[in-house]
Amino acid sequence: MRRLEDCLNVVDFESAARDVLPGPVFHYIDGGADDEVTKRANTAAFEQYHLIPRYLRDIRAIDMRRTVFGCELQWPLMLAPTGLTRVFHPDGEVGVAEAAAAAGTAYALSTMATSSIEEVGAATQGPKIFQLYLLNDDALNFGLIDRCKAANFDAICVTVDTIVAGNRERDHRTGLTVPPRLNRRNLRHFVQRPAWCLRYLAAGGVGLPNVPAASGGDLGSLAAYFASKMEQNITWSRLERLMAYWGKPFVVKGLQSVEDARNAAACGVAGIIVSNHGGRQLDGGSATIDLVADIVDAVGDRLEVVMDGGVRRGSHVVKALAMGARACMIGRPYLYSLSAFGKAGVARALTLLRKETERTLALIGCASVDEVGRHHLTVNARVPDFLRERRVRTEFTEIGGRT
Ligand code: GLV
Repeated sequence: MRRLEDCLNVVDFESAARDVLPGPVFHYIDGGADDEVTKRANTAAFEQYHLIPRYLRDIRAIDMRRTVFGCELQWPLMLAPTGLTRVFHPDGEVGVAEAAAAAGTAYALSTMATSSIEEVGAATQGPKIFQLYLLNDDALNFGLIDRCKAANFDAICVTVDTIVAGNRERDHRTGLTVPPRLNRRNLRHFVQRPAWCLRYLAAGGVGLPNVPAASGGDLGSLAAYFASKMEQNITWSRLERLMAYWGKPFVVKGLQSVEDARNAAACGVAGIIVSNHGGRQLDGGSATIDLVADIVDAVGDRLEVVMDGGVRRGSHVVKALAMGARACMIGRPYLYSLSAFGKAGVARALTLLRKETERTLALIGCASVDEVGRHHLTVNARVPDFLRERRVRTEFTEIGGRT
């Protein structure tokens, strides 16, 4: 089993989490939809873009601060909303929110969280976003917004890419249930991870305190109740009403097209999060890093564009900023570090990513995140200029021209 100090990057935390979590729980975090093509593409696509460093610049002090969705960030990598966090480790959402605040960044709490809006609001003065799954009853939606107002959240983001559940085949194969329950298919996985089982049982199980259920019940019945309330007809006019009621930065998460981004700008939202839900919903879509620049070009002067999907290195953050994103989000990396080491793991993962981001900025010659731009990017398999000219000449000759 790995020690915390042996984890030198977020991929190390992934294998540490694999060592600690029962298989069905690890695969719930790690898995994507269908063939997981989009999930893999999210990270792999960063490799198509190469950074072009500039030297002989003064990089003694590097300013990574940015204000995004009204949240003052010390560096532009925020923690995306993820559900069921206390299943992975009892430190749960409160531990993650505290680690995010200590690291100078924002935490987004999910509607499907296992800690309440009030608990997270009381735990930290750091920047906080609430992720709202739109329900088919606006009284429930307004009720959640009232709770966010009282708990002093900075922004609300509505996730729009979960109108139906993604097909996560790993969960079907491992026999994952919510809450985790033993059955014939998954028994051996849980037996192999007795420490996790004892920890989970000692914590007394988990609930969904943000689900506005008429009555309580166990996690399974709350989740089923919640699924029955999920809105399948999310409209822009609906969002306009919720946005007006909230009155602070209002953000749409899960857009992937220039056209939807233009609609978001017309609706007047403060920002959008370009995201494919970590490849957990629609499979076969593009990697988000491939989408972000066109969206920034279309709407970047009217709203803030944040990129979520596949970020595993500080250099990925810098590439997204170079494309024009205001900031990035991570999901799985902080869940792996939480699962393996609790809040201390999240703190270390964030420190590593922050240092990587700062080091990358220094190495490309930027003293501030505002200095990063598209001139710092080129594409993989870049053809040297002299060969490019030769290729054009050859093509010209081949179509009958003269050199
Ligand atoms: C929830 O948002 C999930 O992706 O499991």
